[in-house]
Amino acid sequence: MKRIIVQGSSRSNGNTNKIVQFLQSHLECDFIDLSECDIRQYDYKNRNQNDDFLTTIEKIVEYDLIIFATPVYWYSMSGIMKTFFDRITDCLNIDKEIGRKLHGKNMAAISCGSDSFDNDGFFIPFEKSAEYLGMYYFGHLHTWVEENDPSNSVLELIKDFSKKLK
Ligand SMILES: Cc1cc2nc3c(=O)[nH]c(=O)nc-3n(C[C@H](O)[C@H](O)[C@H](O)COP(=O)(O)O)c2cc1C
Repeated sequence: MKRIIVQGSSRSNGNTNKIVQFLQSHLECDFIDLSECDIRQYDYKNRNQNDDFLTTIEKIVEYDLIIFATPVYWYSMSGIMKTFFDRITDCLNIDKEIGRKLHGKNMAAISCGSDSFDNDGFFIPFEKSAEYLGMYYFGHLHTWVEENDPSNSVLELIKDFSKKLK
């Protein structure tokens, strides 16, 4: 199974990236950093078609499992990640061929916060989006970094999660 991690943090080498790197050490995955891409806000008039969204999603749809990795910003996915999801709307309206390629693919999600939190609703947008797009939802994992590095217990959670994604 070809896998890709799509990271949506406001800093490329921050805590979410530490989690991503640890996951990659247990699971072979390619990687895209959305913060390196110029992806503009959704526009009803599609005045953003020269940005990086199309080339980015074209790459992503070639994978069997797409793992979204986002920090927790204000109890939600990051703005960068949300903008990316908003733009998937383009694949339903203009680039329908690409939208169809998402059918039958697999999605998973990882969040990274500052503590272990009880926020059941966090992953609903991922689960519901997968359902809407005809994708199979593999599941999710919440991780956190309290000091500089993830604790051993968080690393164990990631290891277990990586087994589910194989
Ligand atoms: C704008 C902003 C909002 C945040 N909101 C939350 C929050 O609601 N819950 C939480 O646990 N942590 C919150 N945090 C902390 C981050 O989730 C945490 O530090 C995370 O590990 C940062 O990952 P990053 O380095 O990839 O950005 C917030 C941080 C920022 C910058």
